[in-house]
Amino acid sequence: MKVLVAYATSEGHTRIIAEYVSKWIEQEGFEATLYDTAQGVDVADFSSYGAYICAGSVHFSRHQPALERFVRAHLVELTCKPSALISASGSAGSPLPQGQVQAMEYVTAFLSRTGWKPLMKVAVGGAVLYTQYNPLLRMVMKGITRKAGGPTDTRRDHESTDWPALRIFVQEFLSRAGSKSALEPVA
Ligand SMILES: Cc1cc2nc3c(=O)[nH]c(=O)nc-3n(C[C@H](O)[C@H](O)[C@H](O)COP(=O)(O)O)c2cc1C
Repeated sequence: MKVLVAYATSEGHTRIIAEYVSKWIEQEGFEATLYDTAQGVDVADFSSYGAYICAGSVHFSRHQPALERFVRAHLVELTCKPSALISASGSAGSPLPQGQVQAMEYVTAFLSRTGWKPLMKVAVGGAVLYTQYNPLLRMVMKGITRKAGGPTDTRRDHESTDWPALRIFVQEFLSRAGSKSALEPVA
């Protein structure tokens, strides 16, 4: 089975997530193609893939418009074949319970805006890249992150992605996707 891993990123962390996901797919014996949705919606031989994983991150409560355009453009295939959403956000990495709730609200809002009903979805902690932000953004992000119970040491970057949990998610998706006929509609 060929799996397309399409991603959108603003500061680069979701690209790293997508790269890991692709590597794990290959390690499970499948073929993975990485695609940056910033390139547009036209993917060569889109319908030749047996499953799709779309990953993006949250900024000011929304996922990237490029990811939204991509999902809308391919809604039929994403509905008819196994598909999954990986959503990275600061909230999903928060140690506070309301952070998880907020992270899933971003996911729900994205899915209802696009009309996409993926087979599986997950919210994962993202990265706070203090060293890469400009001084104003660093200050703003420090305030937001403090409220969310996250790290406030601005001298370094912080990552809150639970890699083992994400890998298990990918393995479960592959197992469910592999056991379905490629053309069987998924609920
Ligand atoms: C300007 C900015 C706005 C953000 N807004 C939110 C937000 O509204 N909610 C949230 O949970 N995380 C927010 N985050 C955290 C990002 O989702 C997190 O840094 C993620 O890892 C970014 O992924 P990327 O590097 O792939 O763009 C924000 C980060 C930045 C830099």
